[in-house]
Amino acid sequence: MLYNMRMRKNTKNDFKLSKPIRHVAFIMDGNGRWAKLRGLPRHFGHHEACNRIIEIFETCREFDIHVMSFYAFSTENWNRPQDEIDHLMDYLEEFFNKEIDYLCSIGAKLRISGDLSRIREKTRAVCLDALERTKDNSSWILNICLNYGGRDEIVRATKKIAQDVKDGKLAIDDIDEKLFADNLYTVGLPDIDLMIRTSGEQRLSNYLLYQNAYSEFVFTPVKWPDFKRAAFIDCLKEFESRNRRFGGLDNA
Ligand code: IPE
Ligand code: IPE
Ligand code: MG
Repeated sequence: MLYNMRMRKNTKNDFKLSKPIRHVAFIMDGNGRWAKLRGLPRHFGHHEACNRIIEIFETCREFDIHVMSFYAFSTENWNRPQDEIDHLMDYLEEFFNKEIDYLCSIGAKLRISGDLSRIREKTRAVCLDALERTKDNSSWILNICLNYGGRDEIVRATKKIAQDVKDGKLAIDDIDEKLFADNLYTVGLPDIDLMIRTSGEQRLSNYLLYQNAYSEFVFTPVKWPDFKRAAFIDCLKEFESRNRRFGGLDNA
């Protein structure tokens, strides 16, 4: 009961999306700078960042956005100091341990996109448990991209398809965009409508390269730990102002 109050207490919004968003993706950037500005070690920013995930998830629900992807750790983030990586993993575990009951209670399904095999055992176990506990849910999808890299994902999909062709399970002519998408971590998820990167950086950093083919990009200067409901709604308004043509012409 208490958990379900979370969404309702915030629901007083005068803005409505006229075109639905089926999938929103976030590059949660700026945690280190957020902490540095406050004279704190970088990992304080990562800790605060985890609190924003559930808050933004709630705002998505409010706007009937059912699928959300969050970039939590990239294949390039292994280049960071081990101490920072350890803190990141600690906070991810804390996030799952804290939120999993709530996610279950509202019928949310967790997905993890990325190679879990390189993630330390303790964190992997927490992730696998959360996946298992939410596997039959379908109302909301929380896709956490963990040890995720877009190029790595595409190479993996290519290898898998090549193997299927070699084994005679597939013919070359069976390979099309849909089949390729079905071999990505995000299999079954709709294309991304809106991709938001916080902190002012304007690049993809190897994020969902195939899936972002026709998404609208919104770059906000707000650093992720400060990215709350109001800042997200500003991004939704920006999305609302866009004219999506998908290579065609305006209807007008
Ligand atoms: C994003 O924040 C979180 C991860 C990449 C894991 P950063 O840690 O990149 O923060 P900045 O960009 O250095 O401020
Ligand atoms: C992208 O942010 C990865 C995540 C948010 C998890 P980075 O901070 O690692 O990206 P670059 O290095 O600035 O491109
Ligand atoms: Mg960064």
